[in-house]
Amino acid sequence: MEIGGRMLWPLLSGLGRRKGTRGWAFSSWQPCRPLAGLLSATELVSHWTAVFEKRGIPEAQASSEYIVAHVLGAKTFQSLRPVLRTQSLTPWQLQYVQKLSGYRLQRMPVQYILGEWDFQGLTLKMAPPVFIPRPETEGLVEWVLEEVAQSSCAAGAQGGPLILEVGCGSGAISLSLLSQLPQSRVIAVDKGEAAICLTQENAQRLRLLDRIQIIPLDVTLEGSWAHLLPWGPMDLIVSNPPYVFHQDMEQLAPEIRSYEDPVALDGGKEGMDIITHILALAPWLLKDSGSIFLEVDPRHPELVGSWLQSRSDLSLDLVAVRQDFCGRPRFLHIQRSGPQHGCPVEARPGPQPARVPG
Ligand SMILES: C[S@@+](CC[C@H](N)C(=O)[O-])C[C@H]1O[C@@H](n2cnc3c(N)ncnc32)[C@H](O)[C@@H]1O
Repeated sequence: MEIGGRMLWPLLSGLGRRKGTRGWAFSSWQPCRPLAGLLSATELVSHWTAVFEKRGIPEAQASSEYIVAHVLGAKTFQSLRPVLRTQSLTPWQLQYVQKLSGYRLQRMPVQYILGEWDFQGLTLKMAPPVFIPRPETEGLVEWVLEEVAQSSCAAGAQGGPLILEVGCGSGAISLSLLSQLPQSRVIAVDKGEAAICLTQENAQRLRLLDRIQIIPLDVTLEGSWAHLLPWGPMDLIVSNPPYVFHQDMEQLAPEIRSYEDPVALDGGKEGMDIITHILALAPWLLKDSGSIFLEVDPRHPELVGSWLQSRSDLSLDLVAVRQDFCGRPRFLHIQRSGPQHGCPVEARPGPQPARVPG
């Protein structure tokens, strides 16, 4: 399925990843025999589609089209000028297609093979094992944008909302919010060093560094919220947290199991481990009537609703649930219903922490 030019949705829609294994050692990869004769882009796509189909590689045609287009300097095969589709590739280009196709035969996700992917109109650098942004997450971003447009925080004291993203990965959510909300500022946190570095690099590439603070932080560590106090109370918290039920991890597609960081996916027994930590820290960080937007599993609206009822001390209400483009309940809007928690003396903000170096 292709939506908006660049998407390999079925490839990514499976749940998945196997703990501890990394599929990017190619020791077992046997290079295919070089193709005889000079082939055109169209012929190469047909050739590699057939090879991928035979080897059971998902999204065979889309994969070969993206690889050939990439080698020819285009984002999609459809956007290639007709002449480039029919003229022969150079020996170097043929070799490069062959090398990248070899990675695909090893089930490497196309996004990692290409080294970049689009999200909300932004081209982001992708690198294993940092989580590849999924198309449904665009629905979360769009919901936040709608709410900001309707709410008073769009015209706050400093001109726009202050947003905390928990688990920024490649920076997809934070950077697309920043690019579409020119007055906004974002605090992006992640426990993964590779994710922190990639968000930093993507922010730099997109010239959005001046409105983002990128902070290495594990939200499960006690008192972690205290590190965020210096930036002031937030208008919004947004997160696409790890939410896969632990028992589902083994069923994830090989592309996910072998290449993406399990820490980005595994949400524990009921997928709630990180979700509950985010909710528990929210009252310390959110402004009165501030909002939390979460992407979750379809089983979570009910689980999160019950959990919030059992934690009335947090003064958080599940106010709306939204479906993804497959009609599954996947996004939650949770709002503060009480005043902000008092700040314990030992947690009072100190001097403004330094920005993470670029
Ligand atoms: C599903 S990925 C989402 C990445 C990105 N926001 C996106 O939508 O493409 C979840 C992210 O949460 C991060 N994460 C997992 N556990 C965390 C924790 N305890 N504290 C902070 N970040 C965490 C992972 O490293 C990963 O980058």
